[in-house]
Amino acid sequence: MIKSLRGMNDILSEDYGRFTYFINLATKVAQNYGFHFIETPLLEETALFKRSVGESSDIVGKEMYQFTDKGENDVCLRPEGTAGVVRAFVQKKLDKAGGTHRFFYHGSMFRYERPQKGRLRQFHQFGVESFGVDSVYEDATMIMMVADILKKCGIGYRLQLNSLGDQNCMPQYRDSLVSFIESVEDEICEDCQRRKTTNPIRVLDCKNTHCQSLYVNAPKLINSLCGACEDDFTKLKQILDTNGIVYEIDTNLVRGLDYYSKTAFEFVSDNIGSQSAIAGGGRYDRLVEFLDGRPTPAVGFAMGIERLMELIVMPESPREGYYIGAMDSNAVDLVVKLAQSKRLTNKVVCDYKAKNLKKHLNAADKVNAKFCCVIGENEKKDGTIWIKNLEAKSENIILLKDF
Ligand code: HAM
Repeated sequence: MIKSLRGMNDILSEDYGRFTYFINLATKVAQNYGFHFIETPLLEETALFKRSVGESSDIVGKEMYQFTDKGENDVCLRPEGTAGVVRAFVQKKLDKAGGTHRFFYHGSMFRYERPQKGRLRQFHQFGVESFGVDSVYEDATMIMMVADILKKCGIGYRLQLNSLGDQNCMPQYRDSLVSFIESVEDEICEDCQRRKTTNPIRVLDCKNTHCQSLYVNAPKLINSLCGACEDDFTKLKQILDTNGIVYEIDTNLVRGLDYYSKTAFEFVSDNIGSQSAIAGGGRYDRLVEFLDGRPTPAVGFAMGIERLMELIVMPESPREGYYIGAMDSNAVDLVVKLAQSKRLTNKVVCDYKAKNLKKHLNAADKVNAKFCCVIGENEKKDGTIWIKNLEAKSENIILLKDF
């Protein structure tokens, strides 16, 4: 039997209900915040992710589904959504147009990671990207939007917050961090030794416990922020306080993608195991110019839909529409005809096999129909239909012309 690839899941039945429930809910929230839908291709030039997510990141360095296509192009399945949206933004010359542009998207992302609970190779994100607003109010709004979506889904969370500085303060901090890493170099893991030259701040979120114990004494970026970054971070915290959003400062939160500056945040859940990040984002003011656009401030986030599906509290879905069945095979034609006419305005499930009443009632219950409608021999003869309202538990026989 051919099975799906490791880390790639089918979404159907009850899961699909959760999936679409989340997308519809998040879409409504994004629209309430003035965001517009954008769809970008699943396949992009590999160079796009090398220049944005960064060659030193695990995502680009180890996890890309990369191949040469029939036209000898180096392409890969998108590991995340931001780079494609920025490419589209520049390609459509929206950077030159100026003004504010706000987008949301959802779809499959691909990362060749080691699959485990909550970690897939094909997973889905819901994300938003805002271009043209340098005010830290927009950063706060992003965070409030995630909080809004999570609240509407009945999901509790912890919010972790950090500032990664900008091109004024980050280089100086990087130098002091590298000096520190050199002082403990003999003791750190191989990955951290590599990160020291490729992207030193990534050592701070190394999962190796010995490395972590050493980095407790590392200089903190938050203590080295320049005046502008410091002011923005203070203002961000104040806006969140005013709006009742609780957060923790995590000075080791560096995010796994290289494009961030200033605000970085992650929402985590303590109820889904080790893969606890349910949403992440931040500001990326340099990315548009890295991708050949006119410098444009930008900020965004993405949420992992599969992880959220584990946590979502679904409202009870009310019974809806009709189930129509026949007890006599001669009445099946009539059942199909009635179903077609009712479908113009209603949800209708019908059965093509003659069955007894009990079986029809069970089937109607299974599809959560409000009315179970059955035509037996007598009903066919009399031109009537038997109807049970499964909500009110009342039964009736009515003329077909009144159905
Ligand atoms: P990210 O933190 O890499 O950020 O991913 C966002 C979310 O996607 C994570 O918090 C997690 O819930 C989910 N996720 C990531 N990898 C997996 C996986 N292998 N299996 C299941 N879920 C996963 C980004 O992708 C950025 N583009 C976010 C962003 C948008 N920043 C600014 N704008």
